[in-house]
Amino acid sequence: MILLVAITATVARFGAPAAVVSAQDVQDHKQSAPTQPASQKGDKVFASSCAGCHGLDGRGGDRAPSIATGRVQRLSDSQIFGIVQHGITGTGMPAFHSLSESEINSVVAYLRVLQGAKETIALPGDANRGKALFFGKAGCSACHMAAGQGGFIASDLSSYARTHSVDEARSAITNPNPNGDRLARTATVTTSDGNKFVGRVRNEDNFSLQLQDLDGAFHLLAKSDIKRLEYNSQSMMPSNYGSTLSSGELNDVISYLMNVANGGESGTPQAETPKENPEED
Ligand code: HEC
Ligand code: HEC
Repeated sequence: MILLVAITATVARFGAPAAVVSAQDVQDHKQSAPTQPASQKGDKVFASSCAGCHGLDGRGGDRAPSIATGRVQRLSDSQIFGIVQHGITGTGMPAFHSLSESEINSVVAYLRVLQGAKETIALPGDANRGKALFFGKAGCSACHMAAGQGGFIASDLSSYARTHSVDEARSAITNPNPNGDRLARTATVTTSDGNKFVGRVRNEDNFSLQLQDLDGAFHLLAKSDIKRLEYNSQSMMPSNYGSTLSSGELNDVISYLMNVANGGESGTPQAETPKENPEED
């Protein structure tokens, strides 16, 4: 499972010139950053090409803003790649035509290391109360995983807040995409012998369908045995959190997600990211 995700992430990294920050980017960082040997070459490239303006720690200087903190953390790898390759016209950020693609990739990986070593950011609420809500009253953990605990029927939110702002998180929670991806909805399968399965379709080909039921069990069903397949008209993500949670509670839940994504919770991979010394040769 982990391996599969890592392979997909690699394909996405080199394949798609994605302009938006997606869930895939989150996976991308989570799966590849800690083991990325490229960041070692990246520290040299960074020291010689970037540090003069952005500072050795990437936190900015007289000539350029911080790229270790703030909005750059929410840019995808491919967006940063594009900035380094083409520069930002009309500003002091030059284009680095002299760097090879692999050097740029390594400098992006190193930038993620610098970003991981940042200070704690201001949370809109209380992360501990948010954790209690996530695993308690708000019921998020029935479907979502965070820091290795919770459900699996919806996406793992452990690193969600690394690439999404507070406002984006708030709107994803209170105003979920009503007609999102078909696969984000539950499906009900009725087989010709009268059995019913409810869950998420994880895989489908011409002859079979793989369904994960709400208890987590996988069912491989032959299409020839399926009498009916119906997708629920709505995503499983409840659409009423805007009214069932107070705005304070919402801020607490978002704070919990931010805390987890920034390694505030033991057991998250980000917490183990080694801090490298860019001055070492
Ligand atoms: C000659 C100085 C200089 C050098 C060298 C330099 N930068 Fe920049 N960089 C800037 C300036 C100035 C900006 C701000 C541009 C603007 O006003 O939007 C910037 C912006 C950026 C941004 C976008 C920041 C944002 O908030 O959108 C990224 C990412 C970035 N630089 C990465 C790098 C990397 C990686 C390197 C090394 C390969 C590098 N820069 C080298 C001057 C520099
Ligand atoms: C009944 C199941 C269920 C519950 C309960 C639930 N969610 Fe979701 N959530 C989903 C599904 C399904 C999606 C859409 C796609 C996916 O993430 O799999 C989703 C999407 C999201 C997204 C967007 C994810 C992305 O990658 O864009 C966020 C953020 C989120 N939920 C947060 C929460 C929070 C916080 C709670 C609790 C306050 C919660 N959810 C409760 C099922 C649920």
